[in-house]
Amino acid sequence: MSELSTSVAFDLQAIRQQFPVLSRQVKGKPLVYFDNAATTQKPQVVIDALTDYYSRYNANIHRGIHSLAEEATAAYEATRDTVQQFLNAAHREEIIFTRGVTESVNLVAYSWARTNVKAGDEMLVTGMEHHSNIVPWQLIAEMNGAILRVVPVLDDGTLDMEAFYALLNERTKLVSVVHASNALGTINPVKKIIDAAHKAGAVVMVDGAQSAVHLDMDVQMLDCDFFAFSAHKVYGPTGMGVLYGKRSILEHMPPFMGGGEMIREVTFEKSTWNDLPYKFEAGTPNIADTVALKAALDFVTRIGKAAAHQHETALLHYATEQLRAITDVRLIGTATEKVSVASFVVEGVHPQDLGILLDQQGVAVRTGHHCTQPLMARFGIPGTTRASFAMYNTKEEIDVMIAGIQKAIRLLK
Ligand SMILES: Cc1ncc(COP(=O)(O)O)c(C=O)c1O
Repeated sequence: MSELSTSVAFDLQAIRQQFPVLSRQVKGKPLVYFDNAATTQKPQVVIDALTDYYSRYNANIHRGIHSLAEEATAAYEATRDTVQQFLNAAHREEIIFTRGVTESVNLVAYSWARTNVKAGDEMLVTGMEHHSNIVPWQLIAEMNGAILRVVPVLDDGTLDMEAFYALLNERTKLVSVVHASNALGTINPVKKIIDAAHKAGAVVMVDGAQSAVHLDMDVQMLDCDFFAFSAHKVYGPTGMGVLYGKRSILEHMPPFMGGGEMIREVTFEKSTWNDLPYKFEAGTPNIADTVALKAALDFVTRIGKAAAHQHETALLHYATEQLRAITDVRLIGTATEKVSVASFVVEGVHPQDLGILLDQQGVAVRTGHHCTQPLMARFGIPGTTRASFAMYNTKEEIDVMIAGIQKAIRLLK
């Protein structure tokens, strides 16, 4: 048990043993995986759920009357119930399965915004958005003659909330905000943002790509209109994600994609749409990965998000202290409320060179713009080196990274 884990129930070694990849070596060194904000590793239960589906009950869902189809349908729909509980959504039909946050944002953009945001209307995002929460709105703005406005980011990596309140007005139709920044770690005050946006009459979308794994989620308490997360960042499989939407809004939205499953009746003259959530799930969905998402969410719930978050925050504080102690290191994103993301630049060392040298030590970090080019421009840097921590990481692994950074500085400067 690590000295950093304060919860008695949080058994770090037992958790590590559930992730097969953590026992492998990279470049002859034990793997230190600090690229968790990009994607988390998968526990054995998730891998087993995938194998189990393909080896025992692979079948297409919903319209089958044979046993395998019934089993597959039951497993697929059971994930919807689990996601509903995970987000505390009021209704199961408010949970739509997508390929991930990117598709979820595009669904809202092409279905809701395309039909509701008119010429001269405004959409508001923040300066710390991931490209997937910028580009879809830009496409709609161009299509409909609307305007995309941006809430600036302060030097510590928090949002300029005064500017946010000033930017909100009666033309603001949509506010789409990242809950926790993948590049800075900043946790944004989304409840305040949602309440203010609703007062102004705007609809609010929350990008939960980085928050769903760390923070307790309650979409009813938040009162957001849309919330999105990706399975692969919550210890689940890639190519699978969720869009939560309020039923009252989803019901009035046109379909995003046409095809099988999303229809009630098709004639050559006219087609009508299926009920929620199927109206938004065209074609054969990603059944195996949806089934495995349930295993991932059950796993996270069993460990306990609060205990994991406490451990990850302790790791973040330790890493921050160690990084600050290196003269040439400058931290990017120093908000008090953060998820476990440590982003930094080393004066005179290109992030990519640092990343390559860390990989020689078996340490996986991410380098570059993290799909947040406007944010990097705001800080006047081409990119950062980012270490992001998950429940299975240890203090000793941070020591390995810090030694690697010091070695890289000696070699590269
Ligand atoms: C904050 C944030 N938003 C959106 C995304 C996009 O997620 P996905 O690529 O799973 O669709 C990411 C992924 O890195 C992210 O970190």
